[in-house]
Amino acid sequence: MKIWTVSNQKGGVGKTTTVVSLAGLLSSWGFRTLVVDLDPHGSLTSYFKLNPDEIELSVYNLFHDTGQKKTNIDPHAYIQTTEFDGLSILPASTAIATLDRQVASLGGMGLVVSNALKKVSNDYDYVLIDSPPMLGILMINALAACQHIIIPSLAEHLALKGLERMIHTVEMVFKSRKNKPSYTIVPTLFDKRTRAARDSLIRLKQSYPENVWNSVIPIDTKVRDASIEGVPVTLYAPKSKSVEAYTALLELLLLENKKVDKKMAVN
Ligand SMILES: Nc1ncnc2c1ncn2[C@@H]1O[C@H](COP(=O)(O)OP(=O)(O)OP(=O)(O)O)[C@@H](O)[C@H]1O
Ligand SMILES: [Mg+2]
Repeated sequence: MKIWTVSNQKGGVGKTTTVVSLAGLLSSWGFRTLVVDLDPHGSLTSYFKLNPDEIELSVYNLFHDTGQKKTNIDPHAYIQTTEFDGLSILPASTAIATLDRQVASLGGMGLVVSNALKKVSNDYDYVLIDSPPMLGILMINALAACQHIIIPSLAEHLALKGLERMIHTVEMVFKSRKNKPSYTIVPTLFDKRTRAARDSLIRLKQSYPENVWNSVIPIDTKVRDASIEGVPVTLYAPKSKSVEAYTALLELLLLENKKVDKKMAVN
């Protein structure tokens, strides 16, 4: 089972959209896919027509169980199937917004999600984690659990500043890990007609030559239409330009995965 986290401390950069789109593709290609919502706003949860204000069993229970020192925590109880074949969700409830305050006194809560996912490792091929746009216990859990980090970023001046902060966070979390995850920066909501976007993309590539994906996810009205319907854009408008771009991104990520696996087999 592979675990990818989609994260950026900046809001509104396409994190949730990237999770839904990649998960939509993976599941329709026959991979057993789980999405995990670690954002207190519960956008991913709402996308799949669940209400994060009312949901009873969610990722919150994992933290609660761990805090109560419960043995035999079973994440299966908190996972739901969706209406889409091969696509399941571990939803968020808005209660997870209170976790930072609660766990400050408990400590040792950085691996709650990682430990839980180990228990479902035979059930899924891919797990995609959506993380909140702020640094806290949920983002730490998301970064600590994954083998690869996808960082969506807008190509604009202020976003580049935010990205510096995000890379710093990622490196800080990496320091404490033996198996260092890799990361890919994905330019999102890209509007090729504007000069500012084109210039920012060039600067982005200059700043992170090793880590910026060599293509972009374009602005596409189909993305918003699909979210209103609660259907991954990959199913809602399979021929759209954003789906073409997400397909190319996924193909690259799968290829890199294989390379990493080979390297690990050699070592
Ligand atoms: N390629 C795209 N083309 C057009 N609209 C998009 C695209 N990607 C995302 N959007 C829209 O932009 C908005 C923000 O996207 P999204 O919710 O995925 O960002 P986010 O990073 O998860 O935000 P937050 O930080 O609030 O969780 C949404 O309304 C979404 O429908
Ligand atoms: Mg989001």
